[in-house]
Amino acid sequence: MKINILFSPVSVEELYFTGKTSVVIDALRATTTIITALENGAKEIIPVGTVEFAVKVSGGMFGWQTLLGGERNTKKIEGFALGNSPLEYSAEIVAGKSVVLYTTNGTKAITKAKFSSKLFICAFLNIAALAKHLSLLNQDLEIICSGRSNNFSMEDSVCAGKLISEIEKLNTDLILSDSARASQSLNKSFGKNILKMMQETEHGKILIENGFEEDLKFCSKLNSSNVIPYLNGQAIKLLPDNVNSQQDVPDDKTN
Ligand code: MLT
Repeated sequence: MKINILFSPVSVEELYFTGKTSVVIDALRATTTIITALENGAKEIIPVGTVEFAVKVSGGMFGWQTLLGGERNTKKIEGFALGNSPLEYSAEIVAGKSVVLYTTNGTKAITKAKFSSKLFICAFLNIAALAKHLSLLNQDLEIICSGRSNNFSMEDSVCAGKLISEIEKLNTDLILSDSARASQSLNKSFGKNILKMMQETEHGKILIENGFEEDLKFCSKLNSSNVIPYLNGQAIKLLPDNVNSQQDVPDDKTN
């Protein structure tokens, strides 16, 4: 099983992902928010790459069943029901709803990788559950760090390294690219105290300045969730509990 890390999605074109098995990470905060919303009963998350498209997509859906969520410069967008804090996505708010989500880096990375044959969502919350699933799948992997403003981000790279280390516990037959080995090394150096690491990152500091310190605590909860979100056509849904082997995994995300 070969594993490669992209430290930012900008280094490749959309078609690069065609037929690949991919994992998208935006630990602060988009993929944490997606995991939380689905765990709290959201029907689906529809990731979009622009605010305009978010408004257009939600306009064509039944208003009371659809929520618009997302951020610009970490803050809720005017006219949107929700921002990008995972703490906002409680069961009372999202259960049974479709959420159209726009975020600066995370949802753009997901839409860029949409041609993957399988695309999974990862944050610190679901590393162990996802590692188990990926190890059973035993397919070559592209792990995409959403990064920040087309650049490297420490929290996504440490999260990617931790995911690889967890897969390695279950599958010793890994072939790691240079970037994959570098992310493992970053995890060894910075991943022992996830909250502290996040508080010291560029994006973590901006979130704290904007009043989102509690989000960092929530986003740093390692393995607090067992859910595995995956892209199914245009929408991110939860992989059913009983899907745990290569044979059972939906082979085509349009199913
Ligand atoms: C993003 O997609 O860039 C982030 O999730 C930003 C944020 O923390 O809201």
